[in-house]
Amino acid sequence: DGAQVYTSNCASCHGPAGAGVPGAFPPLAGNKAILGSEKYVSDVLLYGLQGQINAGGQNYNGVMPAWAATLSDAEIAAVLTHIRSTWGNAAPAVTADTVKTERGTPLTAQQVLAERPQ
Ligand code: HEM
Repeated sequence: DGAQVYTSNCASCHGPAGAGVPGAFPPLAGNKAILGSEKYVSDVLLYGLQGQINAGGQNYNGVMPAWAATLSDAEIAAVLTHIRSTWGNAAPAVTADTVKTERGTPLTAQQVLAERPQ
């Protein structure tokens, strides 16, 4: 399930409780940028994210790896639904259909940055 996908692939950078590492890896807990558009978060997972962002009052300019080659649509949907509904976060589930649609339009990690909610 989504929690298992998170523990196996994400917790090493974003932390077991989504707190991140200030200045290095952004928090997912309490991060409003990940609670809106299903398209944005699907594209971050499929294609990665690169460039400067501000999250939780801290700046980040790192590289989020792309998962299109290693995680299925169902696994990406499950982990996104997990991170949007735990650690105090509350946002609608992300469906595998949405991830499948986004997989049809490849983007660079820099293009994904342009989709990030301000
Ligand atoms: C950014 C989720 C794995 C490093 C993000 C964002 C999300 C996310 C949703 C966007 C945050 C925002 O817009 O504020 C995940 C999930 C993972 C995962 C669900 C597991 C499948 C990793 C791993 C690393 C990592 C393993 C480190 C090798 C980063 C970095 C950013 C980021 C550095 C910010 C990129 C920038 O500064 O532009 N992640 N992540 N992530 N992630 Fe991950």
